[in-house]
Amino acid sequence: MAFFTVNLGFLITVFLSATFSRAHPGLGFGWGGGSGTGGHGQFGGGAVGLFPQFYQFSCPQVNDIVMSVLEKAIARDPRMAASLLRLHFHDCFVQGCDASVLLDDSATIVSEKKSGPNLNSLRGFEVIDEIKAKLEEQCPQTVSCADIVALAARGSTVLSGGPSWELPLGRRDSKTASLTGSNTNIPPPNSTLQNLITMFNRQGLDEVDLVALSGGHTIGVARCVTFKQRLYNQNGNNQPDETLEKTYYLGLKSICPKSGGDNNISPLDFSSPARFDNTYFKLLIWGRGLLNSDEVLLTGNVGKTMELVKIYAEDENLFFKQFAKSMIKMGNISPLTGFSGEIRNNCHRVN
Ligand code: HEM
Ligand SMILES: *[C@@H]1O[C@H](CO)[C@@H](O)[C@H](O)[C@H]1NC(C)=O
Repeated sequence: MAFFTVNLGFLITVFLSATFSRAHPGLGFGWGGGSGTGGHGQFGGGAVGLFPQFYQFSCPQVNDIVMSVLEKAIARDPRMAASLLRLHFHDCFVQGCDASVLLDDSATIVSEKKSGPNLNSLRGFEVIDEIKAKLEEQCPQTVSCADIVALAARGSTVLSGGPSWELPLGRRDSKTASLTGSNTNIPPPNSTLQNLITMFNRQGLDEVDLVALSGGHTIGVARCVTFKQRLYNQNGNNQPDETLEKTYYLGLKSICPKSGGDNNISPLDFSSPARFDNTYFKLLIWGRGLLNSDEVLLTGNVGKTMELVKIYAEDENLFFKQFAKSMIKMGNISPLTGFSGEIRNNCHRVN
């Protein structure tokens, strides 16, 4: 398993700025309540205030606890790794990586769990709960739900055979959720390439991030309802998507009939659905990408995504390195830090 040290210069910069320029009132090491560095996070490469050693003194065993729960959960259900990776994506694209996705309906909260992209689809909440419970035993009121989701996404990638990365930490949990944000910010599976690029750009992510992060579809599954349009009526002409390879297309039709079967599932990477590797990109080249949003990275004819698909299909190491970088970037989307937000006691509700 490769371990990549990404962006060392950036980490040092963040560490120094946290130490020197904002030494008061908290160094940001998670001591006591008001830890963090005060600044609101920013899009893209440098979320101010997050850094890998955030729990170094307040909960040094945080990652060991996360990994021990993940190991068991993924051994029980290999798909769980995919579900937890996706959870972080769906968290970060709505109000930033603030665990808003975990909030249930309540008097003050309209949960994101009922949005189009999430309903009957998002999973892994009970694994997050199990991690949170263990952490509350060992480091009470210290580790945010948002950081748990980010750690679970990295751990799931590693345990599936993918890359690791130094994960900036110190996110705090939101006191709000956004159902509307969940419906509008998470791209649908029938997106055009231009739409995907636009929606990623809005989050501070570029074409390289789009292609690399779509490589997350090297694990996990999708429901028939998310790819049915491609099989029966791709362009409103009752014809299948012509970029689908014939044998693959016939196989998909048997899983996903024209009417009914909406919840039948098919692997996003059918050749190694539980293994984090670069076969996702090879499959795209063979016309065997499951979602429209997958295949258009090759065929959509905007920008340089086709070239990137080909490069990652050829060079797994390069894909791993870029995936790690892009995951850090996605994980840095608008975190709550300093005195913003809170450390939830229970990931399902605000304190
Ligand atoms: C580029 C835009 C994206 C679109 C349109 C998209 C869409 C989808 C859809 C429709 C599903 C199947 C959901 C279901 O049927 O229940 C899915 C599954 C999944 N997505 Fe994405 N996704 C995108 C980006 C990402 C990113 C950035 C990641 C993470 C880095 C990711 C990770 C996953 C994983 C791991 C699964 C499988 C989940 C499971 O098996 O439980 N996706 N995605
Ligand atoms: C995507 O699917 C939705 C819901 O079925 C539909 O309303 C929309 O027109 C589709 N978009 C494209 C680009 O096909």
